[in-house]
Amino acid sequence: DKPPLAPTPPMGWNSWNKFRCNIDENLIRQTANALVSSGMKDAGYEYVNIDDCWMATQRDAAGDLQADPVRFPSGIKALADYVHAKGLKLGIYSSAGTATCQGRPASLGHERADARKFAEWEVDLLKYDNCHDGGIPAIERFTAMAEALRATGRPILLSVCEWGANQPWNWAGELGHMWRTTGDIADRWGSMVAILDQQVGLEKYSGPGRWNDPDMLEVGNGGMTMTEYRSHLSLWALLNAPLIAGNDLRSMSEEVREMLTNREVIAVNQDWAGVQGHKISDSGDLEVWAKPLSDGGAAVVLFNRGAVGAEVATSAAELGLPAAPAYEVRDLWSGQETVTLGKVRASIPSHGSRMYVVRRGVPAKPVPAVATAVRTDT
Ligand code: GLA
Repeated sequence: DKPPLAPTPPMGWNSWNKFRCNIDENLIRQTANALVSSGMKDAGYEYVNIDDCWMATQRDAAGDLQADPVRFPSGIKALADYVHAKGLKLGIYSSAGTATCQGRPASLGHERADARKFAEWEVDLLKYDNCHDGGIPAIERFTAMAEALRATGRPILLSVCEWGANQPWNWAGELGHMWRTTGDIADRWGSMVAILDQQVGLEKYSGPGRWNDPDMLEVGNGGMTMTEYRSHLSLWALLNAPLIAGNDLRSMSEEVREMLTNREVIAVNQDWAGVQGHKISDSGDLEVWAKPLSDGGAAVVLFNRGAVGAEVATSAAELGLPAAPAYEVRDLWSGQETVTLGKVRASIPSHGSRMYVVRRGVPAKPVPAVATAVRTDT
């Protein structure tokens, strides 16, 4: 069986979204440092993932993958040691193909040898891509690597990067711990919502040890507004997506750092019940996404995709909560708590969202017997 990793969605950082092929060992070390000093490690971010372009353009004389000698002169084992000394984990990348997406050597036909190298280097995660497939079916190619990883005896998290091409939600959970459901995200609003739309209906396939991956975060990369990034992160958290930051952690603003480390938003993502959030209503541009929580509450994202501000509303009943005299509504971004008799609604700016946890509660004040109650049902 595959190693029992990722009981909750994996969290970490990956080099691709911000740096593409412009990576080296200093970036990886500095990112590990920044994960610690920013508080992200304490918030749960754990994996430091090197994406494409870490390897030399040729295999070594023994036929093994080797690190690019200019960009990674100390080699991958030294980086793993560095990252492990900080209490973090190291991720690496290859493709189930004859070359990586950037044309570097890849692992098709070399699965055993490459998995052995990754284990020898004490790597903790492999993101395994789908470029240059050699005409071989995806399941065969990804199974070969999953078996090779298992044969090493080292628990290595397998991130299946198959882009949703062959409905990996039907098979990748037996092989790996997460699988991409779509093509690549870009740092644009339109890309983020297009990926979101492709998650509808996939909720039933995910659970502890097997997560839908709507791709890595773009928060902080500059192509969306902070309002849009907050919607992106809120929705990804609710979807039980792996939370893999993709920005430059060494130079991020305080606002971005605070967004990425919001403990209550992360707690929704990591809730052990493992039930993925899903869309419960949709009236054009106004959507409600909800996730049942293990303590009996519900997390909800009210989302306005439209070009103008609008009210978005749901109710405790629609969220699946049992009847109660009142409910506590906690806003996870402002920390504000309100009490409601059942309605949950807010006025939301264009491209914005609110993220709440709603739980059974008691009325803030005794409800007056006469019809002069001042508390409104908000
Ligand atoms: C594919 C993947 C991306 C990234 C690049 C690297 O496009 O989907 O996430 O790994 O390859 O070349």
